[in-house]
Amino acid sequence: MKADPIGIFDSGVGGTSIWKEIQALMPKESTLYLADSANAPYGEKSKNEIVRLSIKNTEFLLDQGCKLIVVACNTATTNAIDYLRENYDVPFIGIEPAIKPAALQSKSKTVGVLATKGTLSSSLFHSTSENHANGITIIEREGSGLVELIEAGKIDSPEMHELLKKFLAPMLAEGIDYLVLGCTHYPYLIPMLEKMLPDHVMIIDSGEAVARQTKSILEQRDLLNESNKKGTAIFRTNGNLTVLENFLKDSDVAEVSYLDF
Ligand code: DGL
Repeated sequence: MKADPIGIFDSGVGGTSIWKEIQALMPKESTLYLADSANAPYGEKSKNEIVRLSIKNTEFLLDQGCKLIVVACNTATTNAIDYLRENYDVPFIGIEPAIKPAALQSKSKTVGVLATKGTLSSSLFHSTSENHANGITIIEREGSGLVELIEAGKIDSPEMHELLKKFLAPMLAEGIDYLVLGCTHYPYLIPMLEKMLPDHVMIIDSGEAVARQTKSILEQRDLLNESNKKGTAIFRTNGNLTVLENFLKDSDVAEVSYLDF
């Protein structure tokens, strides 16, 4: 059981940003990553459809013997994690926009949240905002089109710059000093965002916190891998293999392959 892999899924390549944090924190853990790129973006789908796809990914990972599942997708977490926790016995770790730390640290009391339509419309996102953002103005923007460009490998493109400019303008006009990245694809936009944002605006995402939470749950359940060797990292995509390989080109991975799951 302890040597079994951690299963990770996302609507595509974005969750690799979470995998990188997990791998850096727990190099002995083996991982199996599913990029459901054929069905991206999840953010434009109905809750029922997001739950259905999350079940499909979960069952695949459980069939492969995963000991814990990281839902490395804000949209799937905010729409489907309650269902998954109620219906499967393994522990699930989810990811949600980091509103709480941003709200605690904001001096202008105005925080921007960039996330998918599916995340921003979810009841979990609304309750988190209400619980943690007392006295804080939250400027939400749907990042429509961003996931599609990232899935196409067009991160550093003029189209991306134009979209981000459009999404950031109203937030900057309202005086945000924190920008919460509420989608696991978006950390790959940080180099471009840093060039576009004034110096006083901080960017925050939940990747590191998810890795720490994963470690803490594995410890609590006595599931940490005790081997002395480095874990094995396997990636499966039902979309464009070259794009996924590019996201992993600087990482030590055992296998990246196409699979129609
Ligand atoms: N990475 C997913 C997230 O964190 C992207 C969702 C989508 O496919 O629209 O929300």
